[in-house]
Amino acid sequence: MTKPKLRSQGWFGGTGTHATMHRSWMKNEGLPPDSFDGRPVIGICNTFSELTPCNAHFRQIAEKVRRGVLEAGGLPLEFPVMSLGESNLRPTAMLFRNLASMDVEESIRGNPIDGVVLLVGCDKTTPALMMGAASCDLPTIAVSGGPMLNGRFRGEQLGSGTHVWRFSEDVKVGKMSVADFMEAEAGMARSPGHCMTMGTASTMASMVESLGMGMPGNAAIPAVDSRRAVLAQLAGRRIVEMVHENLVMSKVLTRQAFENAIRANAAIGGSTNAVIHLLAIAGRVGVDLTLDDWDKFGRDVPTIVDLMPSGRFLMEEFYYAGGLPVVLRMLSEAGLLNKDALTVNGRTIGENNADAENFNEEVIRPFDKALTRDGGVMILRGNLVPGGAVIKPSAATPALMRHRGRAVVFETIEHYHERINDPALDIDETCVMVLKNCGPRGYPGMAEVGNMGLPPKVLKKGITDMVRISDARMSGTAYGTVVLHAVPEAALGGPLAVVRDGDMISLDAANRSLSIELTDEQLAERLKGWEPPPPPMTGGYQKLYFDHVLQADRGCDLDFLPGTRGAAVPRHSH
Ligand code: FES
Repeated sequence: MTKPKLRSQGWFGGTGTHATMHRSWMKNEGLPPDSFDGRPVIGICNTFSELTPCNAHFRQIAEKVRRGVLEAGGLPLEFPVMSLGESNLRPTAMLFRNLASMDVEESIRGNPIDGVVLLVGCDKTTPALMMGAASCDLPTIAVSGGPMLNGRFRGEQLGSGTHVWRFSEDVKVGKMSVADFMEAEAGMARSPGHCMTMGTASTMASMVESLGMGMPGNAAIPAVDSRRAVLAQLAGRRIVEMVHENLVMSKVLTRQAFENAIRANAAIGGSTNAVIHLLAIAGRVGVDLTLDDWDKFGRDVPTIVDLMPSGRFLMEEFYYAGGLPVVLRMLSEAGLLNKDALTVNGRTIGENNADAENFNEEVIRPFDKALTRDGGVMILRGNLVPGGAVIKPSAATPALMRHRGRAVVFETIEHYHERINDPALDIDETCVMVLKNCGPRGYPGMAEVGNMGLPPKVLKKGITDMVRISDARMSGTAYGTVVLHAVPEAALGGPLAVVRDGDMISLDAANRSLSIELTDEQLAERLKGWEPPPPPMTGGYQKLYFDHVLQADRGCDLDFLPGTRGAAVPRHSH
């Protein structure tokens, strides 16, 4: 095989003034002369930040990748990009996913890099880096930082996020003391790593693996398990080979790979956020993925991984049971996987997982003992959501998946907070809670508030779920019969904008329908008086975001970002 000409040699090759200048400055890092002899330069794209606790151990992971790159004869160069910490970043990390993706894209393109290892972990860091790198299309591997060890409190296993929702409702109804709640807090995040429920981070780590963008085993190895370090080192070795093979990202991120990821997401009971992120990543590589593909390819796939928030266990048990390779093998044997899809290690996804063994059938269940028979994210349509909305069956109450109820409307999340604890609020468990103005523009970043808590007077009856509808997102660690991502959103004048208290709404998930008992004429009449909200800021990134963000069915990317623009530097001064 003839080796492709290395891009980095455009900076470092030759004896001219400019090459000398490039090398000379790099030598202040203590690099010997043969560092520039034509060996592949590997960028280690690091989202380390102490403000992103889930990625705070990434210096150690980067060291392991570096070791692998050196062993394989490459030159590792680590660079930082914007880190997005889900727990701290306000108003919501999702607002900055696209900004971080631009940082990644331009950092890769503008620098002497031949291949990239993306260090990803906390929720939005995975799609942001994948999107940015996809727009450059160099050889790329993603290495996830791994989940935290299981949380522990008084002999009970605690799941990140999931138990915060659960316990805070218990505190509200007096089933748990505030002191105990505070004690549980310390046991919830007791090691490095990202959320260890099947929340968005674990889902996206699983998506990386099922898309073929990560090494086998990437999804589930705990952050502190030495095998995570081994995976990082092997990824470092492999990326050097990928540069020699010119195995660029678009050869892996094919339509077949996305279909595999959709099916894997159904099987693991993954986060609804994956819908948005995969649509956005597909958009960057020019794969024509639509919302309806989620229903089409996820429809017959049962949820077999029994993890919180849908089920009982956590990522540690998932790894010990065999992890995602078992799920991929089972999907493959059931004819539900495009086995020939290529992965970053140069083998097909079918080859990678053919021998995966299931060590715990409680955690990864056989198909005939599935957690939910139709596990895939369902896409709902109807006169309330003409552009579509999503619901996650594995997190919902089956009896509520067909339900007709009276709307109780919250105009904004602030309006919800004002009203929800009011004993005079006219609401009971048969009602449908409707939250507006929390979509991509309405609440810039599309806040994770769709699983709004139930009113105390309903909770006190022991009721734990009601139908909830919004244009918001929901944390991957949350659960309930929650319809999300309504398109068009209320802030764009979608029908959601004009729902009023007392309107009757029908959800019929089996028939993929969500409708309001109003005629088109009535909806149009109500919309006549509707006014769009102002932008959140008059300048800066938030204004750019507000003016250009696409709706959830297009992955909430900015309208000028989809597409692969390649790694060629359009102009350079030397
Ligand atoms: Fe970072 Fe959950 S807060 S993964």
